[in-house]
Amino acid sequence: MNKVTVVGSINLDTNLRVKRMVKPGETIHAKEHYSAGGGKGANQAVAAARAGAQTAFIGAVGDDAPGEQMLGLLKDENIDVAGVATITNESTGQAFITVDDEGENAITIYAGANFAFGAKEVAEKKDLLEDSDFVIAQFETPVEATIKAFEIARAAGVKTILNPAPGEEKISAELLKVTDMITPNETEAETITGVHVKDEATAKEAAAKLHDLGVAVVIITIGSKGAFYDYNGVGELVPAFKVKAVDTTAAGDTFIGAMSSVLKPDFSNLKDAILFGNKASSLTVQRYGAQPSIPYQKEIQL
Ligand code: RIB
Ligand code: NA
Repeated sequence: MNKVTVVGSINLDTNLRVKRMVKPGETIHAKEHYSAGGGKGANQAVAAARAGAQTAFIGAVGDDAPGEQMLGLLKDENIDVAGVATITNESTGQAFITVDDEGENAITIYAGANFAFGAKEVAEKKDLLEDSDFVIAQFETPVEATIKAFEIARAAGVKTILNPAPGEEKISAELLKVTDMITPNETEAETITGVHVKDEATAKEAAAKLHDLGVAVVIITIGSKGAFYDYNGVGELVPAFKVKAVDTTAAGDTFIGAMSSVLKPDFSNLKDAILFGNKASSLTVQRYGAQPSIPYQKEIQL
């Protein structure tokens, strides 16, 4: 069983289902409203745990009811939350998510406590980080914290996975130096490399640029097309499972969490792990909400 530690964000998601997206200056009615556990970091931890990994989460919540509630959801999945700080006078992170009838989403996040921890707090969790097979992080928490976590992991021979989401134009070179695997989606890959990724050939081009930045393993997820990987001179597109998507929220998070739960730390089963991640995310997109839509191991049958 892999040990996966996620350093990242945890949010209370407020979800609205609409026929179509609201335009600036307009008011529309939503047809459904619900709250759910979210945050890219917490979602990835949930996906790893549900897929069978022994999982720990490092992050921060505010000293409020949503914080307690969101942490409770992680505890229910047997995720170790000893590495989560509770910050006084900060609110727990929140995301406001609108999903239309096409399954398209628009997300606005308020980071709150997610940005209230740094390298020092992460360094205090050294033992936990060193006792992992993979350490995963995203861009919804301070980059100094991620760099520190990855440095600690690397020094102990633990593999690091960076999910560069939401997209940022300039990725810290210091961070890439300690990143073993990077998993952008097509838009994020374009933001980082300038290559417009639309198929296997363009994904290969973008992957080459990411290798040049010092990252050995590249996976570019291309929505319903699947995931392109490039590692050790081998690159190919692993097609996605064809399903009808109603809500793609947390699809990428599910892919990364599920994949990391079965991936061998020497990456020797990379393609099979991607297939497993693809299968898991194909289930996520058929259900509404972030954490409620993430599948369990027994559902992820290839
Ligand atoms: O990736 C989906 C997540 O992004 C949502 O759960 C939301 O909280 C935002 O962080
Ligand atoms: Na979903």
